[in-house]
Amino acid sequence: MNNPIGVFDSGVGGVSIWKKIHTLLPFENTIYLADSINAPYGYKSVEEIISLSIKNTELLLEMDCKLIVVACNTATTNAISVLRKKFNVPFIGIEPAIKPAALKTQSKNIGILATKGTLNSNLFSSSSNEITNDITITEVIGEGLVSLIEAGEINSEETTLLLKKHLKPMIKANIDHLVLGCSHYPYLIPQLKKLLPKDVCIIDSGEAVARQTKRVLQNHHLASNSKEKPLLQFYTNSETKILEQLLYEFANNISVEKKLF
Ligand code: DGL
Repeated sequence: MNNPIGVFDSGVGGVSIWKKIHTLLPFENTIYLADSINAPYGYKSVEEIISLSIKNTELLLEMDCKLIVVACNTATTNAISVLRKKFNVPFIGIEPAIKPAALKTQSKNIGILATKGTLNSNLFSSSSNEITNDITITEVIGEGLVSLIEAGEINSEETTLLLKKHLKPMIKANIDHLVLGCSHYPYLIPQLKKLLPKDVCIIDSGEAVARQTKRVLQNHHLASNSKEKPLLQFYTNSETKILEQLLYEFANNISVEKKLF
């Protein structure tokens, strides 16, 4: 079935997930929606996050997507159960990988950097309540980071200063695993590696999402049988520049357009 896989995020963050999906499933057609005009989702109410997630899903379904990847932790943790009830297509979400971190930690201290919306969600609370109480989780809201990344400021001095501030309580707590709970944050990994002690392992869920997408496509008999170059479409309701920069290595194979949605 050669219909596209639909992917959405509050902005450019989900491109980090899209790259993993495209690497694992190189013949699948994809449509990506960057709802940058409404970013950050992390400070919106649950109702607003649900309504934006419904809007994005409806648009992707109008474009005949066969499966939707919610490439946003904030939208997944606040809206995916509503989406699954409302729409009759498979959904893949992304959630902070605190369980794998809790299984691997030696220092019994793990850190999570995520949006306010994710850390306050019921889904995140129930996952973190399942972690045994000999493990301490230091939760930090990545205040300001999404807006800087949306503005293309991945390596700016302001970003470095903010990261230093956010990492301080985690380093103090002697974390040995840092869970990235927002799809915008993988762009910060090179900076994070410089700022964290060497033995801290950074965990992001992008590859797990790609593997789950492949599994679900196969289980639902939705995988593409094409061996042709796929159609890779990107739409943003803001400026295309940052999206193009983040996708520069695919420039010859993709289309990036501004669209009202
Ligand atoms: N990239 C998103 C996430 O994974 C949303 C960030 C935001 O818009 O606040 O949570």
